[in-house]
Amino acid sequence: MANIVEEIKKPINAEMKLFEQKFYESMQSNVALLDKVTRFIVTTKGKQMRPMFVFLCAKLVGDVNEKTFRGASMIELIHTATLVHDDVVDESFKRRNFFSINALWKNKIAVLVGDYLLSKAVLLSTDHQDYDLLSVISRTIREMAEGELLQLEKARKLDITEDVYYEIIRQKTATLIAACSEIGVLSTSGDISLAKKMMEFGTYTGMAFQIKDDLFDYLTTTIIGKPVGIDIKEQKMTLPLIHALKIANEKDRKYYFTTIKRYNNDQKRVKELIAFVKTSGGLDYAVDKMTEYQQKAKNILAEFPDSEAKNSLELMLDYVIERKF
Ligand code: IPE
Ligand code: IPE
Ligand code: MG
Ligand code: MG
Repeated sequence: MANIVEEIKKPINAEMKLFEQKFYESMQSNVALLDKVTRFIVTTKGKQMRPMFVFLCAKLVGDVNEKTFRGASMIELIHTATLVHDDVVDESFKRRNFFSINALWKNKIAVLVGDYLLSKAVLLSTDHQDYDLLSVISRTIREMAEGELLQLEKARKLDITEDVYYEIIRQKTATLIAACSEIGVLSTSGDISLAKKMMEFGTYTGMAFQIKDDLFDYLTTTIIGKPVGIDIKEQKMTLPLIHALKIANEKDRKYYFTTIKRYNNDQKRVKELIAFVKTSGGLDYAVDKMTEYQQKAKNILAEFPDSEAKNSLELMLDYVIERKF
């Protein structure tokens, strides 16, 4: 797995190195507390897949430049902000194998740090008159908030269908990855139709990415760096469970609905529900759907002439569904 990441990064090693520094600079503040939190954020960095997407998509159609770097920072700022807020919303105390911001500094600070990071993303675009990027990131932030809210609404009512699930993950996750592709292309080429095509590539990739993330919740490994089984605790129904309930008989469906509704904090009942999802083929079904989205993304990429960047993006698509965290 480490090798595949090395391989993916080959054409953008220099860019990713420089990015680290620029990303840190983009967060700096004179407020000591903020500086402490942002330093914590850079030391517990994630996989940085989104900046990699920005650079690779930029390279696919042109030459990486300062605007590409700003775009990559904007994206990672938004990503980080939404994770900081997401852990408050999900009451999750673990992130990237460490404590989450809300666990360490409490909700008040996490909410404000998230706001600060979002504002820095917007400022990075306006300070440099990157109004095309500003338009992309504003739309992305709106969609992500809508996606998270739609998810909350559905968790409350437990009436989520497969189609609504796809709409949620498109909004909360795939739009940001689509924005990576769009921003990458916009930074190196003015070709709007090319940007739209790559956006579609990003959307399919992002769908596969979130289905994979939701599958992690049904695994028992600890290496993913965040809690497992937390979705059910939060009454969040994802694809494996939605499918299992759909094909279940009336008695099972009733029983497991009650588990989610009233026994979502009962370890034994949750374990039982996870086993039910597995034996019903819920995980296999989700893997099939994930692979379908991956294939759709691959088909778009196939339209581009061969290049190092294209090769890395293909590997990235494999990594999205094979990754272990
Ligand atoms: C986590 O994204 C949030 C989701 C959309 C599932 P990543 O798995 O890319 O998070 P990091 O940045 O690597 O921690
Ligand atoms: C990720 O959502 C956050 C956003 C996409 C905004 P989840 O709550 O599903 O992801 P993890 O598992 O906490 O990273
Ligand atoms: Mg969440
Ligand atoms: Mg979460």
